[in-house]
Amino acid sequence: MLPPKSVLITGASRGLGLEFVKQFLQVPTPPEFLFATCRNPDNAKELQEVAKSNSSITIMKLDVSEMNTIEEAKKLVESKVGAGGLNLLINNAGINKKVTLETVTPDMMLDTFNINVNGPLFTTKAFLPLLLQAARSSTPSNPSSAIVNMSSIMSSIARTVTSDAVEYRVSKSALNMLTKILHNELKDKGIHVGCLHPGWVQTDMGTAKAPVTVSQSVCGCIQVMSNMNAENACVLTDYTGNPLPW
Ligand SMILES: NC(=O)c1ccc[n+]([C@@H]2O[C@H](COP(=O)([O-])OP(=O)(O)OC[C@H]3O[C@@H](n4cnc5c(N)ncnc54)[C@H](OP(=O)(O)O)[C@@H]3O)[C@@H](O)[C@H]2O)c1
Repeated sequence: MLPPKSVLITGASRGLGLEFVKQFLQVPTPPEFLFATCRNPDNAKELQEVAKSNSSITIMKLDVSEMNTIEEAKKLVESKVGAGGLNLLINNAGINKKVTLETVTPDMMLDTFNINVNGPLFTTKAFLPLLLQAARSSTPSNPSSAIVNMSSIMSSIARTVTSDAVEYRVSKSALNMLTKILHNELKDKGIHVGCLHPGWVQTDMGTAKAPVTVSQSVCGCIQVMSNMNAENACVLTDYTGNPLPW
């Protein structure tokens, strides 16, 4: 896809979400509107610092487990982007409780499913009219629209050889299915839907032991997104562009 004019990122307070905000400011044609959403904007000090010197950034409250915050964020985005709609939604917010078969509880399963699956689903549903608006107004020289779900290699049934992170693996496999369903629904409406594995990355979730820096990961993810098209979008792809088995 061509450089997006408007981008919305969930979970932009830290980790990969925050780095997406920073790197979208550095691309050759930065977005006109960069919506950095997080559940506690007041606590997102580093994001606030970045936004101080960049008027394209709008920090907004959006907790993916609270529908009212999603709806409020949608209204604010709508008022800013106007007829152009929203070009790119990155469903990045996620949690990983790293529980085993011994320690997992029903509440843990529900909590993780709620954030990692219901979160992207209902955020997408809320912003869909704006994504469709952008897709409708797209021309060869104007960007179309896309939805990118942050998945994980840990979602891959083919690559799973251990029994750790039960709730996380199950939720990310479900997110892959959601990606496919959205792709089927939206492919003829000009919206590319894809899912990415960002690598094992040095964030709070990935820990300092991870081999990939946030900078390397997000740089790669943006490159993969820029190469997304109707044919290659709905494939689990890693940050270097390699397709992975579901
Ligand atoms: N790091 C890795 O190695 C790795 C590998 C594969 C996939 N991923 C995926 O990449 C994405 C980003 O991961 P990360 O490493 O950056 O994780 P992270 O450092 O733990 O950051 C998670 C982000 O999600 C936000 N979040 C959590 N619950 C939320 C909610 N209910 N509503 C809105 N935001 C919420 C957090 O906000 P708060 O600051 O408010 O908590 C934070 O901004 C996740 O989907 C993750 O599964 C990461």
